[in-house]
Amino acid sequence: MRKKLIDISWEDFQALPINDKVPYLSQADGIPYHTLFAQQFDLELLERLGTLANSIRMIAKARSGMDFLQQLISHKRAMLYFSQPSSRTFLSFYSACQILGMPIGEVRDPAISSEFKGESREDSVRTFSSYFDLIIMRSPQKGLAEHMSWVLSNTDRPIPVINAGSGHDQHPTQALLDIYTLQRSFERVGGLRDRTVVMVGDLARGRTVRSLSQLLTNYPNIRQIFVAPPVFQIGEDIQKILTAKGVDFELTSDFHSVLPESDAVYMTRIQDEWDDETHQSRTVDTSGFKFGLRELDMIKPQTVILHPLPRRDEIAREVDRDPRAMYWRQMRNGMWIRSALIALTFGCENRILEFYRANV
Ligand code: NCD
Repeated sequence: MRKKLIDISWEDFQALPINDKVPYLSQADGIPYHTLFAQQFDLELLERLGTLANSIRMIAKARSGMDFLQQLISHKRAMLYFSQPSSRTFLSFYSACQILGMPIGEVRDPAISSEFKGESREDSVRTFSSYFDLIIMRSPQKGLAEHMSWVLSNTDRPIPVINAGSGHDQHPTQALLDIYTLQRSFERVGGLRDRTVVMVGDLARGRTVRSLSQLLTNYPNIRQIFVAPPVFQIGEDIQKILTAKGVDFELTSDFHSVLPESDAVYMTRIQDEWDDETHQSRTVDTSGFKFGLRELDMIKPQTVILHPLPRRDEIAREVDRDPRAMYWRQMRNGMWIRSALIALTFGCENRILEFYRANV
């Protein structure tokens, strides 16, 4: 049953397990109003988003299609509030808004906003909410998007919030584009089921794998293998969720031993911006967690290689030319799936599907 953020105090809401928060974040028809957590997406919603993203992608190929898309939400404005570095997520949301005709405002550096004059982040975001109809936010602070959703829902002008990366906790829209890329990669060979997905790198502090791992639990018989040095291994909270859902998963630091059985290899960079005074990134040996030509020889002909990007040296440049390297296409998929999410949030799904059926 649908619940409303206006009916619960922030303290009580914050204390709920994530699955119990989900009904508070949905619209009447069950689709997300605020998008904060990967747990808000079940299989039906993921397939629906994939279909919508495909339709938008095909419609956008023609000028007449682009003209149609660009009038869909031209009466609403979006604010991109990014107080943490970003290129892809920022630009793909920017482009997604442009595709749907939404004018965009942005704050990337709180030092040039009134936060510099001592305004609280909550007041700043509430200020933006008076000028805009959607806030897309990235923050180094774990619960900020969640808190702002509650704050804005309790004003007389509530607007949706989309989490574009919250600390090292979650990055739900990255996981959506990762899933969309996997759906597309396997659509002609039986779909996303009965596969082994290997996730590699800094799984303790990287937020993308934490969200992706949870979305993967929606698909039948997906085995998840987490490959990292012990200090960078996936958190116990995620392991508990996977155990509770009966997911087949494994933790290892032996990358090469799992490569031959992988259907998808998801590489990530070491997140050294989160290092503490022990400088883990410099003291831990991460040389065994890189993908080069040797690793290319160890995977199957159909295995796909993904990376949320930016990369450092986890994937050698020479790998880019291999048809199994999917990360550049994955990045572009972000623009389509984010367009789909915004279109769904603003109730444009049927109009897009009808236009697709009639014109594409
Ligand atoms: C990721 C992020 O910011 O969490 N990048 C992204 O959104 N494409 C991964 C990273 O920074 O390593």
